[in-house]
Amino acid sequence: MVSKVKLNDSNSTRVRASDLQKQLSSIFEAVGTPEDHAEIAAKVLVSASVRGVDTHGVANVVGYSQSVENGVYTTPQQMDIISESETTALMSGGNGIGLVSAYRAMEIAIEKAKKHGLGMISVRDGHHVGMVAYYAMMALEHDMIGMSMTTAAPAVRPALGAKKMLGTNPIGFAAPAGEERDFVLDMATSTVASGKVGLARRIGVPIPAGWAVTPEGEEITNPPEGENETWSLNPLGNTREQGSHKGYGLAVMVDILCGVLSGGGFSNQLARGENMTWVMAIDIAKFRDVDDFKAMMDDMIRELHATPTLPGEDRVLVAGDPEMDATDDRIANGVPVENGQYAAIRARAAEVGVEVII
Ligand SMILES: NC(=O)c1ccc[n+]([C@@H]2O[C@H](COP(=O)([O-])OP(=O)(O)OC[C@H]3O[C@@H](n4cnc5c(N)ncnc54)[C@H](O)[C@@H]3O)[C@@H](O)[C@H]2O)c1
Repeated sequence: MVSKVKLNDSNSTRVRASDLQKQLSSIFEAVGTPEDHAEIAAKVLVSASVRGVDTHGVANVVGYSQSVENGVYTTPQQMDIISESETTALMSGGNGIGLVSAYRAMEIAIEKAKKHGLGMISVRDGHHVGMVAYYAMMALEHDMIGMSMTTAAPAVRPALGAKKMLGTNPIGFAAPAGEERDFVLDMATSTVASGKVGLARRIGVPIPAGWAVTPEGEEITNPPEGENETWSLNPLGNTREQGSHKGYGLAVMVDILCGVLSGGGFSNQLARGENMTWVMAIDIAKFRDVDDFKAMMDDMIRELHATPTLPGEDRVLVAGDPEMDATDDRIANGVPVENGQYAAIRARAAEVGVEVII
């Protein structure tokens, strides 16, 4: 979707990724997060910003570290395995930092997949996990396919419905390629992640028709403030004719795997900031030769890239391309951090008593 809701040099400040990593880790540690968990939480947030997923990036350190400080997030978090088989586990996120529990769940899934071909973990007692594809992507370096999903408090109406009942319930899927870029699908099951509405509001641009509606079904283009009953995001597809029942169905599927299977609760039972999560790792080598798999991935991606475009379009992409383009730019030129959020991170660092290094 082409939209004006993005950062540029006038509304953001560029910072080196390595400096962001140090700054965020130090803030998490200063509020009592153990060093290894602080490193993980910072890594996931910096990765989102490097990949251009600014809504789920470094600025979240402010709110997350406040949640640690005021006890909404338990730290150190105890991530107990509640039940387990060779290929599955139900894990508690210990009501701690969601980024840390989802990361741990995927580590366990990968270990199980190494032994048994498959690992699948459902996580309850969890908080916001950020960019959900991060965890699916952890499988790539092990020559595995990764999948990750999370369910969240209501922001999206069901198809034909007038009230928020579902989270933006995103799906992450990552599969390794050989010479081509890996395939990484990272998508909310609504037309957009709700963070993009907030970003539009802060940088003062309208949102495109199709993102959000009033309970009367009127299109909203002036980005609304806060989560309330005056508006809801549309499920992917938006209208009956364009297949809103499919985005709706996917959102419920995510709710089942993350919320019902774990027992942590489906969207409509969750408080804002809670995320119940599900991850899976599949060992490709248990199916076929990994190099052959990757060579076929390359063929598929090249054929898709070679598709003739519609008039006015430059090129056909595959999922993950926009984020890899952003990564190439941001590693070379620094990561843009929205000006207000840049100031907020610096202020937060000073407030918790660590050196301001960005
Ligand atoms: N933790 C949570 O509660 C939560 C909830 C919702 C979303 N999120 C996160 O929000 C982020 C943004 O989600 P979104 O749905 O707005 O993403 P998006 O619409 O920007 O991108 C969705 C996917 O489409 C791909 N894509 C974009 N243009 C393409 C093209 N022309 N051809 C092929 N593929 C293309 C992208 O690579 C990406 O994989 C994600 O990181 C998601 O995980 C998190």
